This record gives sequence, C-alpha cells and structure tokens, in this order.
Amino acid sequence: MVKNKKEGKLLFTTDYKKTYAQSDVIFIGVGTPENADGSANLNYVYTVAQQIAESVERDCLVVIKSTVPIGTNDKIEAFMKEHLINNVQIEVASNPEFLAQGTAVRDTLHASRIVIGVESENAKQILTSIYEPFKQPIVAMNRRSAEMVKYASNDFLALKISFVNDIANLCEKVGANIEDVTNGMSYDERIGNRFLNPGIGYGGSCFPKDTKALHWLAEEEGYILRTVKAAIDVNEKQKYALIKKARNDFPTFNEKKVAVLGLTFKPGTDDLREAPSIPNIRLLLNEGARIQAFDPVGIENYKKLFPDQIAYKHSIEEALEDADLCFIFTEWPEIKEMDLDLFKKQMKTPHIYDGRNCFSLCEIENKGINYHSIGRPSVVEFSVLDEVQA
Ligand code: UDX
Repeated sequence: MVKNKKEGKLLFTTDYKKTYAQSDVIFIGVGTPENADGSANLNYVYTVAQQIAESVERDCLVVIKSTVPIGTNDKIEAFMKEHLINNVQIEVASNPEFLAQGTAVRDTLHASRIVIGVESENAKQILTSIYEPFKQPIVAMNRRSAEMVKYASNDFLALKISFVNDIANLCEKVGANIEDVTNGMSYDERIGNRFLNPGIGYGGSCFPKDTKALHWLAEEEGYILRTVKAAIDVNEKQKYALIKKARNDFPTFNEKKVAVLGLTFKPGTDDLREAPSIPNIRLLLNEGARIQAFDPVGIENYKKLFPDQIAYKHSIEEALEDADLCFIFTEWPEIKEMDLDLFKKQMKTPHIYDGRNCFSLCEIENKGINYHSIGRPSVVEFSVLDEVQA
C-alpha cells in the first residue's frame, strides 16, 4: 500500500469536490453509529451522498461499504438523483466489508468473500473488474440482499458467542468444562472451531451496534427477531458475569485495591468501543474500589474516559502490587504469557477473576491462588479463613 502511494497511485486529500468530480467509482466507508433507540445513525452517509451529488461531473458508480439498514442503498440512490447538479448518470451499489479491528489490511487482502449488491449489469461489471485481481470469491446479488448479508453475518457471529456464553454459564452449574465442550463440538465441520471462546461478552464497534440495528429494523417491519434479541440480552448480562463471581468473595469492593489487566474490547487494538471493561470499572468505582490498571495500548484512550479515577500502570507487576483481587478483561498475549507466580508474589490476596480464560487450569494449579474463569471449575487454593488467620 505504501508502495502504491510512492508510485502516485494513492492520494490522500481533503479536497472532496475535485476528487468526486473526477471519479468513475466512489466508495463510501463512513461510520453508522448507534442512535439512542438502537437504530443506525445515517447522518454521515447522507452528508457524503449530498456532497457527491453536488460535485460529480461525470457518470459514476457510488459504492456503499458502510453497514446500512436494508433498503438504504435504494434510498441513497433516489436522494442523490434528487440532489444532482450536473447532467450525469449515477448508480449506487452495495459492497459490505467484513474487516475486524486490528487486522483490516489482512482481512482485505485475504477476504473470505467479496459481496456485491447491484441492480445492473454495468455496476456488476465495474465492481467485478475492481475486485478480480484480489482473487477472492465474488458473490453478486441485489442491493437489499447484500445489505442483509452484512447484518446477518455479524449477528450470526454475535449469536454464536452469546450461545457459547450461555452454555458456559450452564457448564459452571452442572460441573462441565466449556473448553472441553467447545473442543468436542468443534470437530463437527458444520459447527467449526472459531468464535467459540466464552468470555465476558462481545464488544467493539460492530456486534453490539449491528445486533441492535437489525432487531430495531425488524421491529419497524412488525417482526420480532427473537434469536438476535436473545444474543443481545445474554451479552448484556454476560458483561457482569465476572463481577458476580467476585461478589461471592467480596460483599463490597469499597476500599478494595483492584488490579485490572486488559481494558480494550479485544487484543490487537486500542479501541474501547463497547469494551466490557467499561461497565465493570464504572461499577467498581461507584462502589469505592481503588483501581490500578494495565493495558499494553489502551491506556491513552482510557484516560479520556476515566482521567483521574484510575491508577494507570505500565506493567503487570505494578498493576498487581498489593491488590486484594484482580480482574482480567482482555486476553492480550502479554497477559496470557505472564509469569503466573506474579499473582502470589505481588498481590495482597491472590483472588483472580479471568473474563477471557487466559490460562489453562493445569498451569494455574499449585500457584497458591484462587482462580475463577468462565464456564470452567474454579481453582481454590486458599480459604478466606486462612486470610483472616494470616
Ligand atoms: C467484527 C467481525 O469479526 C468483522 O467481520 C466485522 O466486519 C466487524 O465486527 P471486530 O469487532 O473487530 O470484528 O472483532 P471480533 O474479533 O469479531 O471480536 C468482537 C468481540 O467478540 C470482541 O469483544 C471479542 O472479545 C468477542 N469474541 C470474539 C468472543 O467473546 N468470543 C469469540 O470467540 C470471538
């Protein structure tokens, strides 16, 4: 990509008018954040659509990559045609993207599929010729179906995670181990082995927003999307699964020194959108906990949310120092590979609540710690009575 820029094939500009005027194909990739009622906010898409309509000077294809509710491509096309200033032909096509945070370039170059939603042979040909060099399967359909593919894919993955979390919670009650259960399930190719990790719920800029947006859209159509609603409900509750466990040992967090390892919604990104750590930390702070937190890259962004209330630490050792308990909210490699002796060495009382199952139960044994994770039996190596006696 950088090479393309050096060769003059890639240009960054803020002069949108000139760029739109001269383009044959324009991709829209702006955000569609969540409105208060769960619907998608399309303000950015419409703003760009208007700017394009008022700038284009030649026939062009406008391609919407943003995740938009079903029917939006049709509406945007009509809207742009109304706002055209020059006598040109304009057409809209849908081309949802399936990138994940932190792996956008890899996901683009090695996409599982390119979905194009078109209403004409011309649009199909233009998009096919753009994507052919990527040598990935190109799946063409109409615009509404393409818009739906994006929501249905994200919501299906969210549902998969919520299902595993639901089963994990049940595993705890019946004495099963979710790791063994998902491993046993994954040999069935119809189920697969990905997106079966239990935890404290999905976060990020897509799953929470896209599940709510599709549910909202279905309701508008007079239909209740029960499965997606279930995924949303399970996820809301799951965010607090860990703190619920800690309550068994700590009736109050007031004045407790709490170590937090991992703040971002997943490893590999400094993105905090819908990070499960946020509602948990809010709850802990409200109860008077004293938090010392470590995250390899998320601290600067976290400071914007909680400037003074948290003691930010630049190493795991420092975050654990003298702590009464420790929460793990993100499975960063640094955390998964940490020296497990640090818990006992650094903490006042090594009560660990791991929301991402970072360690195997075998490696945790005989470390002198109490360890609680998601969907697996707890490892309890000291009793609260020992603590009092000590
Ligand atoms: C997601 C989709 O993967 C991507 O295809 C889409 O285009 C945008 O949304 P992203 O939000 O960046 O990407 O991250 P992803 O890796 O999918 O994880 C989302 C959330 O699910 C994270 O909070 C992660 O911790 C959680 N997750 C993921 C689980 O809890 N268990 C899993 O097995 C997988």
